[in-house]
Parts: sequence; structure tokens; C-alpha cells
Amino acid sequence: MSAGARPGTTASLGARPIKGLILSGGKGTRLRPITHTSAKQLVPVANRPVLFYGIEAMANAGITEVGIIIAPETGDEIRAAAGDGSRFGVEITYIVQDEPAGLAHAVLTAEPFLGSDPFVMYLGDNLLQGGIEDLVKAFDTSRPDALILLTPVPDPEHYGVAELDGDRVVRLAEKPPQPRTNLALVGVYMFTAGIHDAARAIKPSGRGELAITDAIQHLVDTGARVEPHIVEGWWKDTGRLDDMLEANRLILETIHPSNGGDCIDSSVDGRVIIEPGARLERSAVRGPAIIGAGTRLVDAYVGPYTAIAEDCLVEGAEVEHSILLAGAKVRNLSGRMESSLLGRNVVVERDEGRQPRAYRFMVGDNSEIGIL
Ligand code: G1P
Repeated sequence: MSAGARPGTTASLGARPIKGLILSGGKGTRLRPITHTSAKQLVPVANRPVLFYGIEAMANAGITEVGIIIAPETGDEIRAAAGDGSRFGVEITYIVQDEPAGLAHAVLTAEPFLGSDPFVMYLGDNLLQGGIEDLVKAFDTSRPDALILLTPVPDPEHYGVAELDGDRVVRLAEKPPQPRTNLALVGVYMFTAGIHDAARAIKPSGRGELAITDAIQHLVDTGARVEPHIVEGWWKDTGRLDDMLEANRLILETIHPSNGGDCIDSSVDGRVIIEPGARLERSAVRGPAIIGAGTRLVDAYVGPYTAIAEDCLVEGAEVEHSILLAGAKVRNLSGRMESSLLGRNVVVERDEGRQPRAYRFMVGDNSEIGIL
């Protein structure tokens, strides 16, 4: 059987199964304060944790054995969310990485699970529109030692950057101040077992981490064949707020409308999912948007590109281009709230009658409030 097999069959390379490795450790510093209390891979995009899209990409490519790297602090929450993988049609093995010592360190930590099998490595906060079936097929066709996904970006200095010579990767640099090309390493890679020795051979980078970019460079330097694969659709690393909102927008564009809630004197236009148990009273929702189960909208407007999780309340307020996590409440605002990410049970509320008018906040560490 060949790689990129039909769903329900197992992807393989020759006689070896292709395994999946999803990295779901890391501290998520760029999404604080949300990540003070939750793993960044569980922040929802269109009301589903980012991580689930990666697991599904594996399942759709016929990969059934998936290892998930977890950190000691957030591992339990990830286990509770993804479970044994059966609901995705995969079998998940959890692998604890004791410290966030780099992506190549994560590969070495997973070596007992991976053995000498080829594998796809997928950074758990990444979203790839086209999935990974093409990547797995390309790997099967040309059988390189490693295949890296690349895409042109306007700000390559924030990523791993590759230099090519025809269909070969000749040089890589991790977040170089002066990038030599605009081809960023997307957080999805395919490796054969040679990557383990490469990861053992390299030294920690300036940030004290074993970088996967350096391990791939080591493959190149020792004569291994590393091939590029340019991403066709969009790709998002959801590590920052703006990227998260953009990913939410892109996924919401693809949802299939449905209405399982109660709509009283309300209007719903465009691509909107209203989950069962949601209730709209004298409200308007303009899609693309999703309203979670048990959420109430009262005298509210919810505009395009908004994902409201379960058990939220929006009352006397307007919300657009935002993500609200479970239990968030937005009430009586005089201006529209936009481009915002509210954590679980956050309350944003205006007391209408009170004089003198003032702002009153109780916000956690690293929160950001924009009065626009
Ligand atoms: C990591 C990799 C980098 C890659 C990026 C893609 O960086 O080190 O080479 O371009 O993922 O998301 P990080 O986002 O962990 O800083």
C-alpha cells in the first residue's frame, strides 16, 4: 500500500507505517494571559481546539498511530481534551517532554515511540488549509531523507528560513536577522529515522534549545537528501493573537450553516452555526460566525468572523471579529467590541447608571486592554 492512503487505511512507506508526531508542549508566551491557565493548542478556532485540526489532518492522510508531545504543566488538559484518539479514528500515545528544550529535543524524547519508522511532525498550534495528504504522497513518490514544507512570507525573520537549489534544500537558518530568502519553514515536516542521529549530533542553539532547523541542516551537511514542498493553500501559526483571529476567520469561511438553537425576534444572515441550546433574543447575527451551545444573545449584534463558545452571554452589546471562550460575558457596552480574545469566564460589562463614569478593571498578568 502506498502513502496518502484513503481514509480508513493506514499510510505506509514500503513496509513501514508512517507515524504522526504532534508537538503540544511549549509555554505559549505570545498568547498570555490565556496560556497562564490553558495550553495554547487548546485555544479554540471556530469553537474547536487548534490541536484537533492537526489530529484530523493526520487521520485524513491515513496516519493512525499518533504521538502527542505534552509538557508536564499542560499535559493533563491535553489528554482530557483529545483522549485516546478514537473519536478521530487514530490511536494517541502521550509522550511527556520534561522541559521545552527545542523541537529536535522533542523528536529525541519521542524516539521510543517512533522507533525507526518514518513520521510526519506537526506543530500543534499550526493550521494548514490543505491538510497533509499531498505531503505524504510527495514523500512516497520521491523518497527523500526529509521533506520540509515551505511558504513565502513577508516577515521571514520570524521563522526558520530555507534556501533552495532546484528541488534540493541547501541551507537553513532559524529566525535569521537578515533572511536570504522569503521561504519560511511551515511547522510540518516529514522525516525518516536519520533525523534521530542528526538531533543527537547538533549542539543547543543560542536560545539553549536543540533546534529542528539545525538538525535538518545537519542532514543536508552530511549528504542526506532534503526536499522542499511548497504549501498551496493558506497556513497559520496561531502563536499570536492576530494570527489566532485570522485562523478563526479562515476556518469560519468554510463552515456549513446550521441552526439548532432558539431564535426569538432575531435575524441570522450568512454562514452561521447556532449550536443546540443557544438562544437568541432580539439579536442579529451576521456570519460567518458560530454561537456555542448554551450561549445567550440578548439585544445583541454578533458580526462576521466571531466565534462564541458555549455558555456565554452577550447582552446589549456588539461583538465582531472576536473569539470568546466558554462562560465569557459581554454586557451593556456603548461601543462595538472587535478583534478581541476573551478567556474563560471573562466579564466585560458597563454599569449604565453609575456616576461619575470611570473604567474599572480586574485583569490578570499580561492582559491587554485597548480603549480605541
Ligand atoms: C518553529 C520553528 C520555525 C518554524 C515555526 C513555524 O518556531 O522553530 O523554524 O518556522 O515553528 O511555526 P516557533 O514558532 O516555535 O518559534
